[in-house]
Amino acid sequence: MVLAVPKLPGYLLLVTVDQQRVARKRTYLMCSPEHFAVEYAINPWMDLGTPVDAQLAVKQWGRLREALLDLGHDVHLLAPEPGLPDMVYAANGAFTVDGAVYGARFRHEQRTAEAAPHRAFHEGRGWRFVAPNETNEGEGDFAYLPEAYGGLVLAGHGFRTELPAHAEAQEALGRPVVSLRLVDPRFYHLDVALGAIDDRNIAYFPGAFSAASQKVLAQLFPDAVVADDADALAFGLNLVSDGANVVLDAEATRLAGRLRAAGYTPVPVELTELRKGGGSVKCCVGELRA
Ligand code: ARG
Repeated sequence: MVLAVPKLPGYLLLVTVDQQRVARKRTYLMCSPEHFAVEYAINPWMDLGTPVDAQLAVKQWGRLREALLDLGHDVHLLAPEPGLPDMVYAANGAFTVDGAVYGARFRHEQRTAEAAPHRAFHEGRGWRFVAPNETNEGEGDFAYLPEAYGGLVLAGHGFRTELPAHAEAQEALGRPVVSLRLVDPRFYHLDVALGAIDDRNIAYFPGAFSAASQKVLAQLFPDAVVADDADALAFGLNLVSDGANVVLDAEATRLAGRLRAAGYTPVPVELTELRKGGGSVKCCVGELRA
């Protein structure tokens, strides 16, 4: 932010005030891509003809995990299961707020079996688990901003999570849920079009949302960081932030610059292989909010 401070008549002293962004320690859940493959196509990014380098996928995922650990965060691991190639996208298994867990119910039959190990993980931790009756894909379509309007949930619908799940999540978690309609199949989950960059603000790509939902976002988040289509298509919004450090796909270079200009520290990671399944950083990282 640049402030113009009047000093002597006829002079302007320009003072640069850097926004101090404050990191908060987080607890994450990840699942190794040991069994990752593109064996079916349930989003426009999945192409059965494009080979996946499985070893590289494991390596890149490992670097992502290291980046989160290096920032001082805790990372819990879920055991990957053979036959569930998308289980690496751990964000989809549940949505947690205030130590309560709203479980996922996957839209596609190929992923439905992922819900059980997530449920077992959360029940094992003793948090209140709410089993879903409605189709929803966890943090793929839910984001939480603890300091926006006293604690606000943003929820996507249009491709995966169904609208009644938004009301179900509100009842399960006791936080207001704002429904946002996704309209572009390339942005089939909320978390590929919008990311929480701290406890009260977001970065997003307006073009992924209906005109009305764009209006809602502009009203709620006048200071949002707005991404362009190139960075959105490079999965830049599929980010994980601790309030100061924003871990994001290395290809989203312009968004990284915008975040830096807004006082955040971008932490780029390469996830070329996992992107072939239609996900990047955030898809691989579920947040456990006590
Ligand atoms: N192949 C997975 C699917 O289509 C990718 C999930 C990505 N996860 C996410 N949180 N956006 O379901």
